[in-house]
Amino acid sequence: MSIEYRDDRLVAGGVPLEEIAAAVGTPVYVYDTDSILERLDRIRRSFDGLDPGIRYAVKANSNGALLSLLAREGAGFDLVSGGELLRALAAGGRPADMVFAGVGKQDWELELGLEAGIGLFVVESEAELDRLAFLASRAGRRVDVALRLNPDVGAATHDYIATGRKEDKFGLNPDRAENCLRVISSGTSLRLHAFHVHLGSLILDSEPYLEALRRVLDWCDLKACKKLGLECYDLGGGFGIRGPFAEPMDLDPLGEGLRRILGPAGLRLLCEPGRYLLGDAGLLLVRALEWKPGHGKDFLIVDGGMNDLIRPALYGATHEIVPLRSPEGGVPRRVDVVGPVCESGDFLGRDRSLPESEPGTLYAVLGAGAYGFSMSSDYNSRPRPAEVLVSNGTARLIRRREDPRDLWRNEGDEGLDLRKPAGDPPWREILEDLRNREAGT
Ligand code: LLP
Repeated sequence: MSIEYRDDRLVAGGVPLEEIAAAVGTPVYVYDTDSILERLDRIRRSFDGLDPGIRYAVKANSNGALLSLLAREGAGFDLVSGGELLRALAAGGRPADMVFAGVGKQDWELELGLEAGIGLFVVESEAELDRLAFLASRAGRRVDVALRLNPDVGAATHDYIATGRKEDKFGLNPDRAENCLRVISSGTSLRLHAFHVHLGSLILDSEPYLEALRRVLDWCDLKACKKLGLECYDLGGGFGIRGPFAEPMDLDPLGEGLRRILGPAGLRLLCEPGRYLLGDAGLLLVRALEWKPGHGKDFLIVDGGMNDLIRPALYGATHEIVPLRSPEGGVPRRVDVVGPVCESGDFLGRDRSLPESEPGTLYAVLGAGAYGFSMSSDYNSRPRPAEVLVSNGTARLIRRREDPRDLWRNEGDEGLDLRKPAGDPPWREILEDLRNREAGT
């Protein structure tokens, strides 16, 4: 990780974070290029021999500069909406290296995927498979499909982000997946390319991944599936992190186990990491507004809140909070680090131990590069923060701070013709624009 203290100053990618705060203001998200590339490299090394196709989960952080960086480094993308698909194309992603997953895809999103030439459609239900078969054959296309199975495997993580248990909405019950194989083999518009599983997020142990794989292979008739085109196993994402100063999930034992099982089965690996690539590479810079003594504990009120980073409020997630200058002495006090939003759930950290600080003191909320900005909102009419990417001693603004006028930009009183149906988003037009841009016309 190149996020570290140098001469008592916190530095990311060679740039002192104080300088970024001074130039851009706070709150601001800062991402470090080297940390992202280092994680990409670790995945490739741990999964060596498996010919891994890395499909970065765009939902973790969808900033175009980051997507371009990852595309240049050879990663593909895991998408869950038409919006993500268009963003990934706009950032220079290769459609053939994209995996289109997600529960509840609408027809226009499937049509967009077909038109854009997405490499793999992850199907989550029989109804979706039927719709895809119909739309693909209408478009005269034959497309690769991954069946997402629900293996009923739990993983130690927060209830809201576990997705592979039978009570979760994701994936196909293997009993019903039999029928999907029949649908695929009886038509001409679909080819079975992969089985897909995603157990959840923030997982630290390899065993649930291997158990899910064993269950999928026990369930399917490998020979028959290979006749339908089966080539890959997509294990989803979910590799956990512990903050930039600690080790993330160790992927070596997982790679070892996968090689033992996938090798003999003759299947290639696909994976969809999000947090593992971006989480530790990003932080949120905030500024102290006030230090307020309360009843039995203090409150450090900062200028970033739950609208900027909702993970502590939503999942009770812990993000380490450190001052940008290592404190000289000062007795640590028990303090909740809270934002300005009008909810008691608006905290970035609870029960922390920090020395009392002056207004203006800068802090970094660590491990916030994934599901930080992408889950932000303008709640309390707070414009979304800026984003900065650092690389080898230079910093670039990759998203401007929202202007207060953005808050009401889409509002107005335009009347409404109730007889006119809403229609789909203008995806054809956008796709056309992107293609023209690429062709330089
Ligand atoms: N693939 C699929 C099908 C997914 O649903 C997800 C995440 C990923 C890959 C990437 O998972 P990752 O490697 O990032 O763990 N907002 C939550 C996390 C939600 C994850 C949703 N799906 C959080 O802030 O913890």
